[in-house]
Amino acid sequence: MSEYKMELTAEQLAVLGGSEGETMAKILRTVVEFGEIFGAKRLVPVTHREGHLVTSFGIGLLEPLFRTMDELIDAGLTAPGGFTVDPRPLDYANVPCNPAEKLIFNKIMYSQQERYEKQLRAVGLVNANGFTCTSYLPEVGNTPKKGDVLSWAESSAVVFANSVLGARCNRNSGMLDLFGSIVGYVPEFGLVTDEGRRASWKVYVKTTKKPEAQLLGSAIGMKVVEDVPYVYGLTEYIGSELDDDAVAYLKNFGAATASNGAVGLYHIDGLTPEAKELGEALISPDANTYVIDDAELERVRESYPVMWKKKDAKAQLCFIGCPHLTFSELCGWAENLSDALAKNGRTRVAVRTVFTASPDVAARFRATPLYRKLIASGATLSSICPLMYTNNPLTHMKNIATNSNKLRTYSLARYYTDAEMLDIISGKGAA
Ligand code: F3S
Repeated sequence: MSEYKMELTAEQLAVLGGSEGETMAKILRTVVEFGEIFGAKRLVPVTHREGHLVTSFGIGLLEPLFRTMDELIDAGLTAPGGFTVDPRPLDYANVPCNPAEKLIFNKIMYSQQERYEKQLRAVGLVNANGFTCTSYLPEVGNTPKKGDVLSWAESSAVVFANSVLGARCNRNSGMLDLFGSIVGYVPEFGLVTDEGRRASWKVYVKTTKKPEAQLLGSAIGMKVVEDVPYVYGLTEYIGSELDDDAVAYLKNFGAATASNGAVGLYHIDGLTPEAKELGEALISPDANTYVIDDAELERVRESYPVMWKKKDAKAQLCFIGCPHLTFSELCGWAENLSDALAKNGRTRVAVRTVFTASPDVAARFRATPLYRKLIASGATLSSICPLMYTNNPLTHMKNIATNSNKLRTYSLARYYTDAEMLDIISGKGAA
């Protein structure tokens, strides 16, 4: 008789008994016990074997994580399909820091970065370009198919994979993402099941113009929290095909639902794969209703606290690209910025500005003439995570502006719409 509540195969029980070593047994036991907490009846195979890990930073306090990584390495365990990982925290070449900030980053915040990156390489990091939260974009290539079961973490990547690609993944935590990738199984519950993918909210978008993706996502995230929303009325604004613009919109929208709430999956009527295939059959009969009009978006925007010391101060640093920008977004920003600067009689940005994109998207963009234009304006292009940059207490003294609702939520940065950010950066608006 097994000590586990879950139904396990003879092979899984053998692994738990140590047939593949003590460390592998511990990993599988952790995955099983995690699933049992959520009532999973069995494990299911991970069908898209390339993982995505959320922990990319070597914060000194994470000693238990570093010890666990050493144990995996000593046992010779790796993720057979490899993995990508969230962005690095630092890039002094493109996101300059003063000596005091560097001291805190190097000696306190990310003192274990080198050690941790070495560990990541040893257990299966795909390559040096694998540091991004948009691993699913074609340039990066960690792109699951519809129906694939994943062992990923990173809320913005999980919600994109579930909703836009139709893959199946729960909102895992750090290390469970890696453990599932190593053992090749995840517990069957929540968003991995048909039932868990049904919508318990009907959301009607009734705005008079295309809603800002990050605001709409924020409103829905705060309302439905961890439930699954089925959204009507968006195809009017973003079309019924997953083209570059729709993908970028849904990336930003999803990240806001996942960070301002805890959404792991949304369906967009007439657009996302499961909504196209199953339509309203995805909606639970007792679903709640939420109507979003201009006034509701305004109410949500007004509810954001301004965390700057002086509310009427000007922005000192702008971050655009949380989640990392797509290639077409980067091109769009470069073109719009160049036009706006010319209109305002300027050649250089009015505020230090950092655009962030994955190393692979950045490399593609660097090969275009738009890159030279962007750099000539004084803006920089980096592949860091802006949020990790703001982990330094000294950065709290800076007025950081962003169009990311995720960055706003987890830092002291102030949120502006895309159009407002363009005004600030091009010297038109006062921030
Ligand atoms: Fe990506 Fe960091 Fe933002 S992981 S979503 S750039 S907080």
